[in-house]
Amino acid sequence: MLTNFSRVPFLTAEAPAFKLLQRTTQKMQSILRLFWGDPRFLIMSWLARFIAIREWVAQQGHYLPPAVFGATVIHAVEGACPLESPGQVAKLIQANGYYVGFSLQPSILQELLAFAETTPCYANRNPAQPFYISHRDQFEQELGQPLLAAGYLDAHEDCEAYQKIRHDPYLLAVASQYLNHPAIYLRGELSWGFPAPNTLTDKIKTARVYHCDINDFKTIKFFFYLTDVGEGEGPHVYMQGTHRTRRFGHQRIGQGCAAIADEDLVQIYGRDRVQVVTGAAGLGFVGDPYCLHKGTVPVDNSRLLLQLEFGITPYRIWYF
Ligand SMILES: [Fe+2]
Repeated sequence: MLTNFSRVPFLTAEAPAFKLLQRTTQKMQSILRLFWGDPRFLIMSWLARFIAIREWVAQQGHYLPPAVFGATVIHAVEGACPLESPGQVAKLIQANGYYVGFSLQPSILQELLAFAETTPCYANRNPAQPFYISHRDQFEQELGQPLLAAGYLDAHEDCEAYQKIRHDPYLLAVASQYLNHPAIYLRGELSWGFPAPNTLTDKIKTARVYHCDINDFKTIKFFFYLTDVGEGEGPHVYMQGTHRTRRFGHQRIGQGCAAIADEDLVQIYGRDRVQVVTGAAGLGFVGDPYCLHKGTVPVDNSRLLLQLEFGITPYRIWYF
């Protein structure tokens, strides 16, 4: 005899027992995915959520900066102090969780913009949905809905300007000094954020709520705005110092912090810690992705963002 489980009260979709079962199944699936992908990553993801372990691993490394650096495509921000030394930038990231204060050489910025115009990007990073950015309106009409984001998948690796940034001696020195290990390039992304109506689920999927990323015992991520970004263009936001000061309960849940409402995190850690990064096209900044942060949704104009992540260990898998 077939049983209709939906008639069993504790197995209806709204029942707490059903929700618990659903969450446990999802958790098991996630653990199995990590285990089969790279067991080292699974172990790291359990351990690296604790600040004491992260700092201990970093201390075990050794990195001696070279006396002289090769040519860099990184400049000081116009009108600001000269370019800070990599050691000073690393110290400021260690203190605050992030650093804002350099920019791309204008010719590199122009090359990246030309690349973005002449290379197809992919709606919601879906390889089956390519379009040229200049055809976005038409593409959205065909799709029947506004787009929240689009990325270039791995195409940016073929861009000469990107390769100059990826191998830039100044950026590598900043990364290595912060990690206290020779920095290993993990991955990069070139992506658009568009002004579009969005739900909380959309925001969680696209990292537009406060969260942390744990892709190694320590990683560091560089960002470059390739379009002007003000309050209306979806600026990046850091919660200063939360890479070194975080409630133990929040350390224990690791990336699960993304499930805590933004306002609750702001109340707990203090509104004065919220730092919004705005600036002209070319502005660069860098942070420890363990520091609570978020992108925000553009409301006025689109934003083109380049990001590169460096770590200590090359794993076969990663979180996004
Ligand atoms: Fe993130």
